[in-house]
Amino acid sequence: MLGIAGKVIAITGASSGIGDATAMHLAEKGAILVLGARRSDRLEALCDTIASKGGTASHIVTDVTRRADVEALVALAIERYGRLDVLISNAGIAPISLLDDLRVEDWEAMIDVNVKGVLYGIAAALPVFRRQGFGHFINTISTAGIKIVPTMAVYAGSKNAVRTITEALRQEAGPLLRVTGISPGYVATDLPSSMTDKAIRAQGEASMQTMAIPASAIAEAIAFAIAQPPNVDVGEIVLRPTAQA
Ligand SMILES: NC(=O)c1ccc[n+]([C@@H]2O[C@H](COP(=O)([O-])OP(=O)(O)OC[C@H]3O[C@@H](n4cnc5c(N)ncnc54)[C@H](OP(=O)(O)O)[C@@H]3O)[C@@H](O)[C@H]2O)c1
Repeated sequence: MLGIAGKVIAITGASSGIGDATAMHLAEKGAILVLGARRSDRLEALCDTIASKGGTASHIVTDVTRRADVEALVALAIERYGRLDVLISNAGIAPISLLDDLRVEDWEAMIDVNVKGVLYGIAAALPVFRRQGFGHFINTISTAGIKIVPTMAVYAGSKNAVRTITEALRQEAGPLLRVTGISPGYVATDLPSSMTDKAIRAQGEASMQTMAIPASAIAEAIAFAIAQPPNVDVGEIVLRPTAQA
């Protein structure tokens, strides 16, 4: 299938920020959306908005730290729409801190959501894509893994794990599947709400207010990757505010 219209696209972390904006943008381009996150009220409202504009979207409560939930998201696409064209593994959290603070539970949460969540997506969709003979993985990474700064050790590490896994997946995928990593810089979203250190959260919110680009910019980059012809594989897109050093 060419372009975006008619493609069945599942998104994790679709209840806010980049996932929400991407769902709206792809729905406007005629994609069929299957949306996952933990907050069902937000997913329901997003599906209603998409439907009110003539689009098609379904949702299912998905905690990406639970493999069965991610399996169920992919299964919903197959049951309801007969196939899955694209899986966007986008769910992520950023409870960043200095390593000295030993916020070990936050480290574990970032590994569970940012890394294992993406792996569960691969585990759920890869057999489906192999069976179908087509499919596109899109993983949300971050510029945090490109320029490493203090407080970002575990977050950047989790994102660079995804960068590495995404590149290996691309190499193993063969000629029928596509694999894309999207690395945004500061984007205006709810991401600081996942920051458990109050001072760091305030800093994150301030940086967002001064320089963040809108989530729609990431949605357009994702749409660009999906819209390419089947033999064109967009490996990685990095996009950040011009003001971001
Ligand atoms: N904003 C930025 O500056 C920026 C920059 C680079 C990369 N990113 C990455 O972009 C992605 C999206 O983040 P965002 O900026 O759009 O932030 P956001 O507005 O906070 O959105 C994060 C999304 O992830 C979901 N999520 C969190 N934990 C989850 C879990 N256990 N299971 C399922 N979904 C979960 C949230 O939904 P629920 O709470 O409803 O589950 C929400 O929909 C993340 O991977 C983030 O690391 C963001």
